[in-house]
Amino acid sequence: VNWRLPSGCATGSDPVAGRYAQGGAAFNSNKGQWMSAIESTLQEHRVFPPPAHVVAGAAISGMDAYLELVAEAERDYEGFWSRLAREQLTWQTPFTKGLDESNAPFYKWFEDGKLNATYNCLDRHIEAGLGERTAIIFEADDGAVTRVSYGELLDRVSRLANGLRSLGVKAGDRVVIYMPMSVEGVVAMQACARIGATHSVVFGGFSSKSLHERVVDAGAMVVITADEQIRGGKTLPLKSIVDEALALEGSDVVKHVIVYRRTGGKVSWNESRDIDLKTLVEGQSNVCEPEWVSAEHPLFILYTSGSTGKPKGVQHSTGGYLLWAALTMRWSFDIKASDVFWCTADIGWVTGHSYVAYGPTAVGATQIVFEGVPTYPNAGRFWDMIQKHKVTVFYTAPTAIRSLIKASDADAKVHPRSFDLSSLRILGTVGEPINPEAWMWYHAEVGGGRCPVIDTFWQTETGGHVITPLPGATPLVPGSCTLPLPGIIAAVVDETGGDLVNGQGGILVIKRPWPSMIRNIWNDPERFKKSYFPEELGGRLYLAGDGAVRDVDRGYFTIMGRIDDVLNVAGHRMGTMEIESALVSNPLVAEAAVVGRPDDTTGEAICAFVVLKRGRPTGEEATKIANELRAWVAKEIGPIAKPKDIRFGENLPKTRSGKIMRRLLRSLAKGETITQDVSTLENPAILEQLGEAK
Ligand code: WTA
Repeated sequence: VNWRLPSGCATGSDPVAGRYAQGGAAFNSNKGQWMSAIESTLQEHRVFPPPAHVVAGAAISGMDAYLELVAEAERDYEGFWSRLAREQLTWQTPFTKGLDESNAPFYKWFEDGKLNATYNCLDRHIEAGLGERTAIIFEADDGAVTRVSYGELLDRVSRLANGLRSLGVKAGDRVVIYMPMSVEGVVAMQACARIGATHSVVFGGFSSKSLHERVVDAGAMVVITADEQIRGGKTLPLKSIVDEALALEGSDVVKHVIVYRRTGGKVSWNESRDIDLKTLVEGQSNVCEPEWVSAEHPLFILYTSGSTGKPKGVQHSTGGYLLWAALTMRWSFDIKASDVFWCTADIGWVTGHSYVAYGPTAVGATQIVFEGVPTYPNAGRFWDMIQKHKVTVFYTAPTAIRSLIKASDADAKVHPRSFDLSSLRILGTVGEPINPEAWMWYHAEVGGGRCPVIDTFWQTETGGHVITPLPGATPLVPGSCTLPLPGIIAAVVDETGGDLVNGQGGILVIKRPWPSMIRNIWNDPERFKKSYFPEELGGRLYLAGDGAVRDVDRGYFTIMGRIDDVLNVAGHRMGTMEIESALVSNPLVAEAAVVGRPDDTTGEAICAFVVLKRGRPTGEEATKIANELRAWVAKEIGPIAKPKDIRFGENLPKTRSGKIMRRLLRSLAKGETITQDVSTLENPAILEQLGEAK
């Protein structure tokens, strides 16, 4: 079992608490964190009903409308999703069957139906006379604005798709995209989808090693990249990282590298492999017949962190995934033709897939794509852009909100109050639990008290929102993602998969397969089964990997954080094992253990306990080596994985059988005094040393 149970969750004198306690040491690991989070949720009495101006025209208007959909899904689950798939998507060949459970948990949806994602995102809007509508308002790091209509977007997607075909790329081939936030990034994704190639976007902050690992695992034939990216006034390399990655063993699968010239900076060039994007698309026709694929055809693979050192290639379908992208734009964001939608996520993460590349275009919306960072040229950048582009629906991460609260406390000029944000009507958050304080600030200061805050819980694996309020229906409680979408059968269960009553914390599961769920882990079906449908829970429940509790009054869900060895740092998923492997690959390091600790801004921070081969460094030497190790991790994985704290010890706390006691390290990382039972510890004196070490 790779996950531990949240024993601290069970509150009061409930009978389950005892059962958890039998689970042993690991089960108590997160107790402090869970208890305080639960207590603050249970004390949260503020309720914000949906504002009348949003309820009036909403896609799901009022709680009765929500409950009606829930009831429809209960009556005829397959029929419910089939109806929506027919309504939301345009099919080239209609499907005859909704759900196929014959090879569970490898579920299939709408399999004999054929469609193309880009036909749904582009052509059908143009055929409806909306070719002139702005699809993307691109704002560059330096503030320059470019607008791209749906007609132009189809033109660009088609040319690149034809270019890819001219290189021999065909349906089922994999293409890795390592691009900055740009129109070209979205075009690259859709160009793949146009011809049925499966894309795998790698976030531009990952190192050459991480990129290499993903390129090889995916077996990518082509890499699409840029010369450089520009963020916060700084130029950062991309092409040279691709060169480094492809110099490593196993990279000969890659036949071509397509380079978008973003800055025109000097890059090295391999004549037999590299092609300038401009040269490739020049002379290509702007007409590209879409490849009609089965609804189950893999639209993309996106690597994410799990409990082991190796990232998981989360494989998504075309039909079910796209249904979700479109449907949740309508349900969760109530998107309308008059809206200007802005999701601040990078296309390198799943949020940038569902709510930048596919969702907004699937519903023909106008959206902002932003190249830069929220703090450049100053921390008022988001508010300035909302004001300038009259953004109506804004979607960002709690980390961004928390850091902007700090910045605006320090400088009134960058406070949301100094901007006209009256265009906003709906706010969203994603990626990590939002603390009620940050929620309240977002609601009051950014939303002027008028805009519902839609706290969307979901994961790379779920494809899109699964538990979320609906802006025109759900009364909001700060810090709670409220209720599952209609048709999502979410529950909180104990370690055997048994239902828990409301008020008791446990494991979050989804009981029935839904259309946009992960289909497989690329190249690793066994890991797929073990990670998501563990036998311990009966083999049929989808294990999200998060702990949750439902409140007694409303059954609202609050997410308590991961129950496995995955950290959530600034909304980025990081595996502790990945960071540990990176650290121990350094020649100085004998042993390393990585845990998370709470952080005011980033939610969690990475804390590494390290044993060096040469003994324990102190003072300036310790600082120097810690910095070297940080740089090492940045090079191995990417800057986002750099440990914030590094503590050196002569050893790590271990049981007599040699197992590292991580729960003790978590307490030490938090600065707590150890009150837990340490009688099974081989070397109790080490706690004092690690507790002091900084
Ligand atoms: C966390 C991001 C609380 C959770 C879309 C989940 C959240 C992980 C929320 C997935 C939320 C995401 N409230 N926690 N609204 N949204 N999470 O795959 O721990 O990058 O398992 O997908 O983020 O992260 P991922």
